Amino acid sequence: MYSKTLSFLQRVLASSGRDAAAAVMGRSSAQGYCTTLKSGPGGAARTRVVDLRSDVVAKPGPAMRKAMAEAEVEYDLMGEDSTARELEELAADMFQMEAALFVPTGTMANLIAVMAHCRERDDEMIVGDLSHMHVFTQGGSAQLASVHATTATTLPDGTFDLEQLESKIHHRYPNPHHSRSRLICVENTHNIRGGRVLPLTFLQEVRALADKYGLSVHMDGARVMNAAVAQGVPPSTIVQHAHTVSLCLSKGLGAPVGAILAGPRDFIFRAARCRKALGGGMLKTGMLAAAGKLSLFQMEILEEDHRNAKTFAQALGDCDPPLFAVDTAAVETNIVCFSLREPSLSPFEFCARMGQVGAGEVAALGQGIQVHMFPYFRNIIRAVWHLGISSEDTQLAIQKMQFVASQYLRDKLRSQ
Ligand SMILES: Cc1ncc(COP(=O)(O)O)c(C=O)c1O
Repeated sequence: MYSKTLSFLQRVLASSGRDAAAAVMGRSSAQGYCTTLKSGPGGAARTRVVDLRSDVVAKPGPAMRKAMAEAEVEYDLMGEDSTARELEELAADMFQMEAALFVPTGTMANLIAVMAHCRERDDEMIVGDLSHMHVFTQGGSAQLASVHATTATTLPDGTFDLEQLESKIHHRYPNPHHSRSRLICVENTHNIRGGRVLPLTFLQEVRALADKYGLSVHMDGARVMNAAVAQGVPPSTIVQHAHTVSLCLSKGLGAPVGAILAGPRDFIFRAARCRKALGGGMLKTGMLAAAGKLSLFQMEILEEDHRNAKTFAQALGDCDPPLFAVDTAAVETNIVCFSLREPSLSPFEFCARMGQVGAGEVAALGQGIQVHMFPYFRNIIRAVWHLGISSEDTQLAIQKMQFVASQYLRDKLRSQ
């Protein structure tokens, strides 16, 4: 099976290395894919746009669009779409899991995982209190799957304290006061914690704990490919510690839509039934699956995203005036989370200044630069790298950040 993955990868990319990968995904080395040139008032000044709001803004490039246009498309209700099957086989192969399922979104992949793991009315899952599943899905597991969640504290590196985790497991079943602990969910990389990569030893320990008490482990691996690149290991080395994993194809991987849920064959059988019940049974999936297939192979692009994110984080830390609080050592993948040291400058105002062309900017920088990012969680600002952002775009974002910081200081001194 694994050889199939490799030969596909070789066919698509290996012949011409990074440039081929960039062409598939849409990033040009000369100019960032999402960087657009606009005329300013009177058509004189150029404005560059660098969109760091999320890796979901990454768009398919020409090769991916071509593959979509040429894809075999069949009616997939009964599993007849050969392109979707190929995608699922490639993904299962990549994760070294028995089977995989193509689903519309990462949110649905995780919800299906909860439904397929927690099948009794009194089943309970344990999730991180800062996990995407807990914070950003309207409590979908309770709302739609009738599964109660208890939380473990998410530590700054995205892990849990294992003693606390163990204390959250109910040991007294069938005592009628307690639900039955069934599932532990981990998130890798961890989004709110700034793209942190879960250490393999932590995953091993969580799995050992789950095995001890007969629980399952689901990994929200929306960005698990970023984790694999950061740790320099195949994705299967990471997900071997989980029973099931979800993966988003439409974030840093650049597909227009879609996610993968992988796990044991009987789990995927149940998952396919849940997908249909949730309205996620897609009928003619070939074009989307064709994009998904290409998206699975672009580790080099992710590597460059990580480098660019680190460069930006270092520039934040080095900025004079020292306006930003950032832990550069914690920037392990494509996400940079930082806050402002100046209480008088709110995250909203800072992001607004970054997103507009300020007075005197064109004279100072030679062009207008709009950098889009936003306050993400509490007072944290998040910037995310993806295939639409080149190293040149990153330098533009740095220039703009330094300009905004110096303008802010100048305004502050003037008002004193
Ligand atoms: C960690 C994590 N899991 C799941 C999701 C949900 O993915 P989707 O937007 O495809 O539903 C996201 C989205 O940002 C995420 O960051």
